[in-house]
Amino acid sequence: MTSRSFLVTGASTGIGRSCVDGLVRSGAHVWATVRTSEDEDALRRDYPEAVTVLRMDVTDDASVRAAGERVLATGPLHGLVNNAGVALPGPLEHIPIEVFRRQIEVNLIGQLTVTQAMLPALRQSREQGQNARIVMVGSIAGRIAGPMLGPYHASKHGLLGLADSLRAELAPSGIPVVLIEPGAIATPIWNRGAAAGDEVFAQFPAAGRERYAAQIADVRATATRAAAHGLPPERVAQVIVTALTGRHPRPRYLVGRDAQAAAMVARLPFRLRYRLTAAKR
Ligand SMILES: NC(=O)c1ccc[n+]([C@@H]2O[C@H](COP(=O)([O-])OP(=O)(O)OC[C@H]3O[C@@H](n4cnc5c(N)ncnc54)[C@H](OP(=O)(O)O)[C@@H]3O)[C@@H](O)[C@H]2O)c1
Repeated sequence: MTSRSFLVTGASTGIGRSCVDGLVRSGAHVWATVRTSEDEDALRRDYPEAVTVLRMDVTDDASVRAAGERVLATGPLHGLVNNAGVALPGPLEHIPIEVFRRQIEVNLIGQLTVTQAMLPALRQSREQGQNARIVMVGSIAGRIAGPMLGPYHASKHGLLGLADSLRAELAPSGIPVVLIEPGAIATPIWNRGAAAGDEVFAQFPAAGRERYAAQIADVRATATRAAAHGLPPERVAQVIVTALTGRHPRPRYLVGRDAQAAAMVARLPFRLRYRLTAAKR
């Protein structure tokens, strides 16, 4: 392969799909990971030449390992976009632990599993005197936290720590690690999250449903607004393409005015900050 090569996880929809498009337009070859044959067919149809589709569930070690071996065998990898993610809402008092565990497995452990599997191919690029970069798609939800999205906040706060450690560890190898922190982006994650929330909510004891009904209604309204009025995913993809291909990538990129505003709130004294976010009720 002569062009630069990048791997994007969670390429079926939303930010991942837009990243594939942005990278292909920049002239790159893209490894795009999906979970279903329908999504595999759609990507093959839309990008018959520039995209190689891989089937991968980030929580399935064997599928991640196999993808890493295939990418390494084909040549160097110039950048990895750890994008795959889910948002599983619910009050921490009642959220089934297996749901919480799944949130962390997908959004945090999955990112590390994929990173470990792709590092040999990224190092190959460095050995050939070329760039190798790792982009983590975090969220402004990794800097602030509010009610009903505790599992998601925990995963994105964790990703921030993971990215900072990884950045320090890979600095001597010349592999920058970039954390992207978007605000609300109009993608299917919001409706998928609401559907997952409904399923979990139905399992709660009646008292729990009553206790948290108002907060759940609030978060649902926020999700509806974000799905309708969030920034288009192409805006995040542009930032990711810059982080992968620009000369001097920044360690972090906030995307969106809401993310900028929330980042300012995160710097306020704790008491004031909590009054504005988690403790508002
Ligand atoms: N939308 C926002 O407002 C927003 C804001 C900040 C950060 N983010 C982050 O952006 C990333 C992408 O989300 P999005 O908004 O673009 O949502 P999305 O359209 O729902 O895309 C999520 C992608 O992740 C994939 N995925 C989910 N579970 C997976 C698993 N176990 N293994 C492999 N792939 C898996 C999905 O594949 P399937 O189609 O097979 O489920 C899909 O391709 C996430 O990390 C999210 O936290 C989103």
